[in-house]
Amino acid sequence: MTIFDALKAHQATVADRRIETMLDAGRAKDFSASAGELLFDYSKTNIDGEGRALLIDLLEQTGVAAKRDAMFSGEKINETEGRAVLHTALRNIDGKPVVVDGEDVMPGVLETLARMEKFATEVRDGIFEGQGGKITDVINIGIGGSDLGPAMGYLALAPYADGPRCHFVSNVDPADIFQTMEKCDPATTLVIVASKTFTTIETMTNARTAKEWMSEQVTDASAQFAALSTAMDKTAAFGIPANRVFGFEDWVGGRYSMWGPIGLSLMIAVGPQNFREFLRGGQEMDKHFCSTEWSQNVPAMLALVGLWHNQVCGHATRAVLPYDNNLARLPAYLQQLEMESNGKGVSMDGEDLAFNSGPVVWGEPGTNGQHAFYQLIHQGTRVIPCEFLVAAKGHEPELHYQHQLLVANCLAQSEALMKGRSLDEARGKVADKFEGAELERQAKHRVFVGNRPSTTLAYPQLTPLMLGQIIALYEHRVFVEGVVLGINSYDQWGVELGKELATALQPVVEGKEDAAGKDGSTAALVGFLRGNGL
Ligand code: F6P
Repeated sequence: MTIFDALKAHQATVADRRIETMLDAGRAKDFSASAGELLFDYSKTNIDGEGRALLIDLLEQTGVAAKRDAMFSGEKINETEGRAVLHTALRNIDGKPVVVDGEDVMPGVLETLARMEKFATEVRDGIFEGQGGKITDVINIGIGGSDLGPAMGYLALAPYADGPRCHFVSNVDPADIFQTMEKCDPATTLVIVASKTFTTIETMTNARTAKEWMSEQVTDASAQFAALSTAMDKTAAFGIPANRVFGFEDWVGGRYSMWGPIGLSLMIAVGPQNFREFLRGGQEMDKHFCSTEWSQNVPAMLALVGLWHNQVCGHATRAVLPYDNNLARLPAYLQQLEMESNGKGVSMDGEDLAFNSGPVVWGEPGTNGQHAFYQLIHQGTRVIPCEFLVAAKGHEPELHYQHQLLVANCLAQSEALMKGRSLDEARGKVADKFEGAELERQAKHRVFVGNRPSTTLAYPQLTPLMLGQIIALYEHRVFVEGVVLGINSYDQWGVELGKELATALQPVVEGKEDAAGKDGSTAALVGFLRGNGL
């Protein structure tokens, strides 16, 4: 019997147990873990001592500790691409050596960080100027990991942003770049082309459009461009001088890259000091992950709760619900981090995966979600494990009472999900309005089955340091889940087919090639769109 079998057998015996019956005075402390000032509470799940012990066995049996150490020490754990996985080196600000292929990568990492800091300071202080004066706007052109990290971070750290305004253009849809250009003066705008490969069609198309726009207004467009990439030859071919190219190595995956050059726009917005705090937060989480026993290890426990809900209980999605408006883009960021990393049907060995792959991740900030999709979370037929995030305080002391209302809503939701409302209680709610069969019918609509699991990540305030901790926490969760499932979390072959077919379809949508060779549906859609102005 595998541990997964044992877990499923255990789950079957406890499936009907009400979570609230387990919540004695000690459970909240026992079924939570903390890292620095961050508290992870998973007491409102159906995991008990036996389930947790089995889950921790999973970590032992799959060698998570050894794989973690291999990752941190620069071994090539991304086996399908033959690469190390070392985004952790980007936040290793103590500079402790990290060796890849016999070479310490840290001097290079720290040198690039210092160059970024110098450039960011020059932009912020007006030493680096546009052809019309001090830089007022920064446009980051990138997609996926070259967009979501800095875009999410820029919103998250809005209270710390005192530099130029930042805009994030990702979509090849011309509306994105067009509307952004309309807001900016090219003479005082810095364009950052962010692309690990410098080949991504969306990014390169937008970058060329931005260059044309700038060329029409300033004498030397290239002088207001910077690039973030691993492909120095391509950045040079695009005309960006080497002193404004910030490079990184192939051991930084796109969705793990906001800690390095890809974070330049965020650094310009919040300043190098705050960006360093963000890195320090990430490094603190790394230290916690590497040195804390499993039951107290927040990334490990967050991963185990995820595995319990998805692979053991069979809940296919998880909702990430930040009661922190500045984390509005966190769900989108986590969609790429988790779904591009663990959305695989084949194990590292090339075998079909014996379990469900990683879950569908989705969400919106509270309280907005409450007025949109929580209906289904509370009364829909499927169970959706919810992951709440909440800060003790916001950044608006004068409106603290509003923050308290926000927190009350967050805690009320996890309580409501767990407790639900029985038919008896529902009858009591409407007994003064209805009677007989109508009372029964009306009451039934007001029943909440409850016993729906949730976790809460609580922290004092969303500072740069805390953001670093939170992002590194989710990265390590993905790593642990990936190792347990035997997945390579660091490749993304699943994005390739669509890219290839899009390239092949381009001449068809342009009308240069006939759609007849395509399947009937695609050909008909091309026909409709071309008939309507494509
Ligand atoms: O297509 C997926 C992907 O490769 C992501 O993994 C990556 O973050 C994104 O495209 C952008 O890639 P690049 O930074 O090379 O432009």
